[in-house]
Amino acid sequence: MNFQKVCTLDEFWEGEMIEVEIDNHVIVLVWPEGEEPRAFQGICPHQDIPLVEGKFDGRVLMCRAHQWTFDARTGRGINPGDCRLAEYAVKLDGDDVLVAVDGVQPLFAHS
Ligand code: FES
Repeated sequence: MNFQKVCTLDEFWEGEMIEVEIDNHVIVLVWPEGEEPRAFQGICPHQDIPLVEGKFDGRVLMCRAHQWTFDARTGRGINPGDCRLAEYAVKLDGDDVLVAVDGVQPLFAHS
């Protein structure tokens, strides 16, 4: 897998989310409390809204547009439950946070 550096642990903290981009993939990087950082598609599977504009309470990610919610540990839809976020592989290398986009495509509820 081709891991690329997206930020460092100085810029990204447990309980936070940030948006990063690799090779035209918009990615939301989230760090659920008590877990490892995760990377998911950065655009809501409902419509074309960046998830980073929503809310993250340390466990649940909520889209700002129509309040769809996702479990930030797995990317699974909570409400509605029949959708999910595509997940990218994340690796920590010292203070660097790396993400690989190989073979991952965003998922959309209407496709
Ligand atoms: S665009 Fe995200 S919930 Fe509708």
